[in-house]
Amino acid sequence: MQRLLIVSNRLPLTVQERKGELHIEPSVGGLATGLSSWYKSCNSIWIGWAGITQKKMKRERGIMARLLSENCHPVSISPQDVEAYYNGICNRTIWPLFHYFPLYAEYSEGSWQAYQRVNTAFANVVAGIARPNDVIWVHDYHLMLLPQLLRERLPKATVGYFLHIPFPSFEVFRLLPWRNQILEGLLGADLVGFHTYDYTGHFLDSVQRLLGYDVTTAQITVSNRIVRADAFPMGISHERFAGVAEDAKTQAERKRVRKKLGDCQVILSVDRLDYTKGIPQRLEAFSAFLDRNPKFKGRVTLVLLVVPSRTRVEQYMRLKKQVDGLVGEINGKHGTIGWMPIWYLYRSLSFHSLTALYSLADVALVTPLRDGMNLVAKEYLTTKADGRGVLILSETAGAAQELGEAIIINANDQEDLIRALKQALEMPEQEQVGRNRIMQKRLRRYDIVRWADEFIDKLLHAKGLQREMAAKALTYEMQSKLVNDFQRSDRALLLLDYDGTLVPFSPKPEEARPGTTLMSLIEKLAANPRSDVVLISGRDKDTLERWFGHLSAALVAEHGIWIKDKGGGWETIETLTSEWKEEVYPILESSVDRTPGSFVEEKGFSLVWHYRKADPRLGELRARELINNLSNTIANLNLQILEGSKVVEVKNAGINKGRAALTLMSRAEWDFVLAIGDDATDEDTFKVLPSTAWSIKVGFGASAARFSLSSPSEAISLLTELAGQNV
Ligand code: UDP
Ligand code: G6P
Repeated sequence: MQRLLIVSNRLPLTVQERKGELHIEPSVGGLATGLSSWYKSCNSIWIGWAGITQKKMKRERGIMARLLSENCHPVSISPQDVEAYYNGICNRTIWPLFHYFPLYAEYSEGSWQAYQRVNTAFANVVAGIARPNDVIWVHDYHLMLLPQLLRERLPKATVGYFLHIPFPSFEVFRLLPWRNQILEGLLGADLVGFHTYDYTGHFLDSVQRLLGYDVTTAQITVSNRIVRADAFPMGISHERFAGVAEDAKTQAERKRVRKKLGDCQVILSVDRLDYTKGIPQRLEAFSAFLDRNPKFKGRVTLVLLVVPSRTRVEQYMRLKKQVDGLVGEINGKHGTIGWMPIWYLYRSLSFHSLTALYSLADVALVTPLRDGMNLVAKEYLTTKADGRGVLILSETAGAAQELGEAIIINANDQEDLIRALKQALEMPEQEQVGRNRIMQKRLRRYDIVRWADEFIDKLLHAKGLQREMAAKALTYEMQSKLVNDFQRSDRALLLLDYDGTLVPFSPKPEEARPGTTLMSLIEKLAANPRSDVVLISGRDKDTLERWFGHLSAALVAEHGIWIKDKGGGWETIETLTSEWKEEVYPILESSVDRTPGSFVEEKGFSLVWHYRKADPRLGELRARELINNLSNTIANLNLQILEGSKVVEVKNAGINKGRAALTLMSRAEWDFVLAIGDDATDEDTFKVLPSTAWSIKVGFGASAARFSLSSPSEAISLLTELAGQNV
């Protein structure tokens, strides 16, 4: 039976030591609270850190047994690594940087080594537990190297990864000294998920710019694998929060709190104590609001629930002092004998106490400076069974992308916050209900179950496609059959593309000239009286003539414009024009002007814009623009645009490698046909081949070819075998 292995730094249960005794508590933070209600409903094991050393845990045998009975499998982390990995790289480097606090980020090589060490320890534990059919789902920024480490240990495993915090824009991400290792680490997964499309875009952007991999809207080609990336906005457990306002325990707690607070409007603020949450800014805005709107004094209370978090990291200690100070200051300034403007709680509350506050609060003030998602906003809305209540939400929380009917504010703009508070406290009930019902419906539809199901479905689908592609790989057996067919044939045709197929790409086309080994291989194949070799390329005819003109091989130049049969001269398939070049050249030149590293190549009957050496992202963008600009011009000129690997080519319409291949195939009877190519232009060849032909794509990706090889060197090995040489 298929099992799900959830892997995160923190288990949903944390072991805490109080007065020498160990207690198991639910973990706080969106990842644990969000997933913990769901993971028990499926056949899953959760692997993570229990927040305590192995040594302490061993003191009480019952603790380990209880964790295991909850399907939690603890990973031990030494106190030194907790300091360097958890308090270090995770919370002093990645957390601040990814939340756009680069000035808080510290870069320590020693901590990075601990990060690698702990990720490796997790990989070893997971590899020890995993069975072949398991789905492994890795979570969050603590374990960004883990997917790749798992791929090395379990090459065939289904591995998904989800990041619960923002993925920052390239300009911020590039500041990280270990940025490439982190990206390579993530790309070990089959599917990488984020809360929003913005984060997904930032990730793809960084992959393309830093690693130079081919990236399309939602997928990355990494040597012989395709990795997908997509947005999955995390939901909450609708079931857990929707009915809770009616629950007896929650109601009793609500009554108790109401009695203490008296008859005033309640503004609620709930966060871990974290500088990303904007707590001081929120307090200052509340104080300014009271200054500006004195009629609310004595009539409104801010309940400030702050959950202790990462208390050993200096920025958090400093923040604690700042928040304590501000609360005292504001209460001192505005408070009266009978009224305390801020009720400050510095602890974690039980589920019923928390939901009592949600159900009681007239306004939820959720104003992080930056937040991956923010589940508190969603929990508040879902708890409001009668639809009353107002959510003020900052635009820099991932949740804002789904909760547009809330009052959306800029958390740095105090005026905006003051205005929002007034609007919220005075909002007519009907409007409150109107706004909330729309959001509640959305939250009900896309809850935690749907979120997790969708992720797993996409992961399995991605894996399925991966397997399909892997199935196309030319196996040892198939290669033997191919060689055997070739040896038994009386007349064989070998249609060989050149760049990307027989030689890897070079930044400058003229640098990819054939070496002596390749030349002697082609010579040997061409000299075989029972086989005909065709070099079928996009290159200009002069280059092909210079390189291969002396061989007993046919040549096809400029994607089929020119054909030179074995022993014959160069001919074109039909009358071609080149006057159009005058009109098209300036358009390509303007792309060169705006794309450093790109250039135009002029061939007999075509013009090519090359951008392999340009910044990959800019190159793709300019390629799209160029194609757009060209399509108007070429409409009346009987031309076509061809997209190859990092090239855009303009040439006469109706000509392609497929047509040239058909022309050559029609000139004799062949009992063996093999075509090898690597890019979109070779697809035209693959498509016209008879079904009995052997067609091979070099590289991964969708193709009409029947088989694939991963690199030019594999193609060379195959041809060497055909030539009867030792491989
Ligand atoms: N929470 C909790 N106990 C509390 C206060 C909050 O368990 O006393 C939970 C809350 O219900 C929410 C989570 O902590 O599910 C906070 O998640 P969020 O996504 O808002 O922020 P994060 O802590 O992940 O940055
Ligand atoms: C955020 C992170 C989680 C983390 C939680 C609590 O939600 O995305 O991965 O568990 O904060 O932080 P802590 O450091 O206590 O695990």
